[in-house]
This record gives sequence, structure tokens and C-alpha cells, in this order.
Amino acid sequence: MRYKKRKYFLAGRINIIQRSKIRELFEKASKMENVISLGIGEPDFDTPDVIKDAAKRALDEGYTHYTPNAGIPEFREAIAEYYKDFYKVDVEVDNILVTAGAYEATYLAFQSILEQGDDVIIPDPAFVCYVEDAKIAEAGIIRIPLREEYKFRINPDELVEAITKRTRMIVINYPNNPTGAVMNKSTVKAIADIAQDYNIYILSDEPYEHFLYEGAKHYPMIKYAPDNTILANSFSKTFAMTGWRLGFAIAPKQVIRDMIKLHAYVVGNVTSFIQIAGITALRDKRSWEAVETMRRVYDERRKLVLKYLNEMPHIQPFKPKGAFYIWAKIDPELDMSSEDFANWLLDNARVVVIPGTAFGKQGEGWVRISYATEKEKLIEAMERMKEALSKL
Ligand SMILES: Cc1ncc(COP(=O)(O)O)c(C=O)c1O
Repeated sequence: MRYKKRKYFLAGRINIIQRSKIRELFEKASKMENVISLGIGEPDFDTPDVIKDAAKRALDEGYTHYTPNAGIPEFREAIAEYYKDFYKVDVEVDNILVTAGAYEATYLAFQSILEQGDDVIIPDPAFVCYVEDAKIAEAGIIRIPLREEYKFRINPDELVEAITKRTRMIVINYPNNPTGAVMNKSTVKAIADIAQDYNIYILSDEPYEHFLYEGAKHYPMIKYAPDNTILANSFSKTFAMTGWRLGFAIAPKQVIRDMIKLHAYVVGNVTSFIQIAGITALRDKRSWEAVETMRRVYDERRKLVLKYLNEMPHIQPFKPKGAFYIWAKIDPELDMSSEDFANWLLDNARVVVIPGTAFGKQGEGWVRISYATEKEKLIEAMERMKEALSKL
């Protein structure tokens, strides 16, 4: 439905997108001094030099032109090679589309699969973009809860119960933002079977696949349901390349063909020299060494923050085995909503955490703490939280 702003008429389509609820918290924090943010979801590391050098070289070598819409063939080959080497999954170049991050891959998947009246199942809590993508696609949204007793994994029985005649897609995201949960093989297989039985697509958003701890493993959905999976992946987190906007989708060929049609008119192609740097990221041993170094540092921080939180009153962390977030439960005795708690923490400890409700109704009573922040700042933030909470 159209809406009017001053003298302009604007499309209602955009008006249905909800701007982030946590904006106000960040705005408030930006006006305060000496605030430590544990709110952001991006690596604090710089991109490994070997990748930066590859981009600089590519520029000098003249990679300044349009590329094929789907991406530079050698880069798509490198992605296929990576899935073969890492996961023993066979994908062909025609199954791959290079995108401007996982965000674009996700948006294209929603637009290509769903239309008005279709249903999509989105877990609750979930990363913020899925619901907005679903609204733009005019799809019905069915939320299924991720429960603590199920380690924030999807419960296959609840998934089956949620499927309607109009369900066309389910979104999953492991390692998970915001909970840090990881998937086990049997649940991945169960979801794959359900998707095949009910003929629905799985949009599997896997940008944190390399940040795993305590021996946890990642089971990529395309390995178990190749004909039903649209994989969204990204270089943003793995190689600390958030600003580069580099990601990809892997899907059945007919889906990729449709996604390319839309991508061709919106993005055209992902920046040419960045795709060339992507080849180095995937093929050069040094970039993988850098990933492992980052993983180890995240793991140290994870343990550090968990230790602090476990000793603090009024907050109880879920022990995550993936990503770089800790999902922590607020003491119900405090009788504070997630938003109240986050505001209170900002006022009393000058620490920013994200209220769980930013990720869905099930996030009430929880907050997300990011440990993608240097150790000294994390320690300072934890000390401040401890002091503030012990006064309650
Ligand atoms: C689960 C999840 N998916 C997708 C994205 C977007 O990533 P990209 O930078 O690749 O667009 C993020 C970023 O925070 C994320 O956490």
C-alpha cells in the first residue's frame, strides 16, 4: 500500500521494512563517553595481508572491468574446489553465484523462491535480515522457537508441525547468530529429510562455519540435501572481510539461474579485483593460517567471557560452540525486559549488549554479547558488568 511523506508518494514495499530496533541503543551510546560496545557482529581483525596484496595486484593487473554476472569463472571454480576439499561435496560452477556478501545471497533466495501467500519458516531467535527479506517477498512468516533445552538447535518435530501447505522455505543458520549454537549431524540430516519429504527449500546461511570450538564440527546442508538447499556464505567473517562485500550462493542450477537474473540488474557483478582476491583467500595456505589464528583468539575470548559471566550474579550464559557471540539469560527475578536490561547496563556499566528481542520474541529475557572485541576491552567490559550487577 502506498504511503505519503510530505509531497512525495513512496512505495509501501519499503515502508514495511523495520529499521533496526537497536539503533536507539547505539545512538544513545554514541552520545556517551567511555562506552565499550559488545554489540557489533563483525570481526575486529584486519583482513590478512596475503588477501589485501592480491587485491592490490589485481588492480594493477587491470581487473577494473565488468565480469560475468555470476562471477569470474576461476573464482567460481575455486569455490567449487573449496567445497570438494573441505567437505567432500561436489558442486559445479553453474551451481555458484558470487554475491555482495551473504546478505545479497539471502535476499536473492527469498526473491527467487517466495511469492505472495507462500510461507517461510524462520527460527526465533534469528539474525535480523530474514524477517525483513520475507516481508519484501510478501511471504507469510512462521516462527519456530529455538529452545535452550534443545541447545538452540531446531527441533525436527516442531519443524514438521510448523509446515503448512504453503510452506516453500525454511531458514537455518549454524553456527548461529545470536546464540552461538552449532548443529549436530543427526539434526542436519533430519532437516534434510524433512525438506525432501515436504518438497521445501532450505536457505542455509553459514557465514560462521570456520568459527567452531571444543571440537565442534560443521555439517553443510548442501551435503545432505543438495537438491533442496540454497547455501548463503560469505568471506566477511571467515577472512575478516566485512567491508569487501564478498559472498556467494550455491543452489540447484535452475534456482541459481533465477537468482542471477535479479543479481544482474541490481548488482551486475561483484567488484572484479575483489573476486580475484577471493581466489587467493581460498587457495593460499597463508589465508587459512590467518583464519586459524583468529579462531584461536576468538576461542580464548569466548572462555574468558564465559568465565566472567559464570561468576557474575543475575546473568547466566549459554555455552556456545560456534560464531563469536554469547547468548546470556537475564535473571528473571530482576523483572527487567531485555531492552530495559540493555539500557540499564549502558547507563550503569557503559557497556553495550544487544537485547535478545532484536532477534525475535523468544529473545525476551536474553541478551547477545559479542566477543569480536580485543581482550583488554573485553576484560574491562566484564569488570564493569560484574561491578554493576553485584550492586543489584
Ligand atoms: C547470520 C548472518 N548472516 C549474514 C550476515 C551478513 O553477512 P555479509 O557481510 O556476508 O553480507 C551476517 C552478518 O552479521 C550474519 O550474522
